[in-house]
Amino acid sequence: MNELISKTIDYMKNKQLGETTGHDWWHTLRVYNMAVEIAAKQTEPVNNTVVALGALLHDIEDWKFNDGDETAGPKAAAIWLKSCGADEETIRHVREIILDLSYKGTKAKSTMKSIEGKIVQDTDRLDAIGAIGIARAFAFGAVYNSEIFNPEILPRMTIGSDEYKNKNAKTCTLNHFYEKLFNLKDLMNTSQAKEIAEKRHKFIVEYVKTLLEESNAIGSEHYKLIKDFQ
Ligand code: ADP
Ligand code: NI
Repeated sequence: MNELISKTIDYMKNKQLGETTGHDWWHTLRVYNMAVEIAAKQTEPVNNTVVALGALLHDIEDWKFNDGDETAGPKAAAIWLKSCGADEETIRHVREIILDLSYKGTKAKSTMKSIEGKIVQDTDRLDAIGAIGIARAFAFGAVYNSEIFNPEILPRMTIGSDEYKNKNAKTCTLNHFYEKLFNLKDLMNTSQAKEIAEKRHKFIVEYVKTLLEESNAIGSEHYKLIKDFQ
């Protein structure tokens, strides 16, 4: 491991330890480990340093907590990398990855340009589904004062960037599964991530179905909508 990566690990661990909105250090570490693993399996050439730095720095800042400013993260990453003496091209590339990374609704197409960016995007999204994804969604819902499940509020099945970003939209955390998490498996870029996503997707669909069954919501609109994602 090169020094730039090990310094960035220490920096991000120090910055994110104890964070409770889902952007904690352990999320970053999972994304980093999966990204390194998937990068090693590519047949095309991959810049492993850019993958590692992109994964480690992708949540350095969050537009959701920066008044919607999507450049806060890329800027902070560039400042850090510059202070470590990283070369211009590495800084440019990592900056681009962080800017293009985020999911902004079902209508927003991915604009990820490089294989390095595609890998980081895949692994960030893998961590939003499966068992860990469920935990992160409800942890995030608590921060947003969102109800767990309200059968009277239906999910917005096609959701644009502005609506997705709207903090005041009347919703419940269960709807986040329909509005984002159930869509992620079809958005994976690499074949390795697709395979992992299939398994995690089945798990979260089964989880939501069970939650609805336990809520006497069989036959409800939420229950019917699950069919689209099975
Ligand atoms: P990304 O890093 O892909 O941009 P986000 O920052 O949007 O992801 O989300 C971080 C975590 O919080 C993810 O696990 C995501 O599912 C969850 N999350 C984001 N928005 C909501 C929401 N409105 N309700 C519940 N969970 C959410
Ligand atoms: Ni993330």
